[in-house]
Amino acid sequence: MAGFHAQHGVLACDGVALDEIARVAGTPVHVYSAALIAERHRALDAAFAAYPHAFHYAIKANATMAVVRLMRRLGLHADANSGGEIEVALRAGFTPDQIVFTGVGKSPAELERAVTIGVKAINAESPGEVERIEAIAAARGACARVAVRINPNVDAESHRHISTGHHGTKFGMSIDEARVMVREVGRRPHLRVVGLHAHVGSQITKRDPIRRVAEAVAGLARELRDQGVALEHVDLGGGLGIAYRPTDVVVSPEEYAAALLPAIQGTGLSLVLEPGRWLVGPAGVLLASVVDMKRRAGSGWFVVVDAGMTDLIRPALYEAWHSIAAVAERPGPRIQADVVGPVCETADTFGVDRELPPTEVGDLLVVRDTGAYGAVMASNYNRRPFAAEVLVDDDRWTVVRRRQTIDEMLQGDL
Ligand SMILES: Cc1ncc(COP(=O)(O)O)c(C=O)c1O
Repeated sequence: MAGFHAQHGVLACDGVALDEIARVAGTPVHVYSAALIAERHRALDAAFAAYPHAFHYAIKANATMAVVRLMRRLGLHADANSGGEIEVALRAGFTPDQIVFTGVGKSPAELERAVTIGVKAINAESPGEVERIEAIAAARGACARVAVRINPNVDAESHRHISTGHHGTKFGMSIDEARVMVREVGRRPHLRVVGLHAHVGSQITKRDPIRRVAEAVAGLARELRDQGVALEHVDLGGGLGIAYRPTDVVVSPEEYAAALLPAIQGTGLSLVLEPGRWLVGPAGVLLASVVDMKRRAGSGWFVVVDAGMTDLIRPALYEAWHSIAAVAERPGPRIQADVVGPVCETADTFGVDRELPPTEVGDLLVVRDTGAYGAVMASNYNRRPFAAEVLVDDDRWTVVRRRQTIDEMLQGDL
């Protein structure tokens, strides 16, 4: 079975013991399983096999070059959310026609780049942005491919920081605005509307919002088709959630397909999805060493590790819950502990009141399900260098991103 499992009493990634990786690569270190990413992609792909579709991997979830290259090897395409992510996609070997470009507040330079290389679709956020895309395309004598991002006013029922599809959030245009926009764009010689786009949030764990978005977008696509507007695709973004807690109830790939496809089938258009978290989240752990054990007031312990919110900000930012485990369990009575990092913020806490095996300074712990929105959201706060990243692929493990050195961290300071 691909992923993270105990082997002879030691947690391993695809058969490679994590204590060995820590010994050679040091800690903190992010470790990813290529086999688990491939397995999850196969499962998602199989669920949509009955309908023409393309998965554009949301690079934002994990932008490490080796992971993005792996996605290309697996046959996915790319979803870039910034000029930087467009460059990552190109350097990973994606061709422009495999890249969709999304994002609120695209800069003139980013739009210029996207138009010049000719991406598959620029997912346009506003009427003003469409005007700017047209001006760039006209100046170059080009025809830019645009999809209109719709805000369907559907609450993703996820954390409020990552719910993006209801009115009042900054994302996309209302269906009414989009309807007008698409007709407008149809008359412009330097623009071609190729699709409709919506992304209503991340870590969605309910079927209803997924179904409602598909119905809203498909409804407009059918209406436009009946008026003679020839679109190519419907892009419903990413957002499929994962189980962070063993008790979490999530939507399976089959349920996801069953929620989307009935509405999309009626459009006759190919389906684009932009999965991120679902593919990489469970395929990564953050491996850390215990650097201190402190008594908590009252009872229990603070287990202080060498990884911090600078390496994984999700608990501090979203109060996200991640499973925490010892790499090798010591025998004996279990302890109650808050697992915390070294950063000067009380929010720098990975888990509160967790039950752990007896723990000593020098032991290794993993924070699980950190493959998505982990390393990619790292910062140098407290002047902490970025952690190393390791990919386990075909029984071999490789450092795919070196630990940042102090010199590298400071090289831009003049
Ligand atoms: C436009 C867009 N597409 C795709 C994604 C990927 O979402 P997820 O990682 O939840 O699948 C995001 C993330 O929020 C996004 O903003």
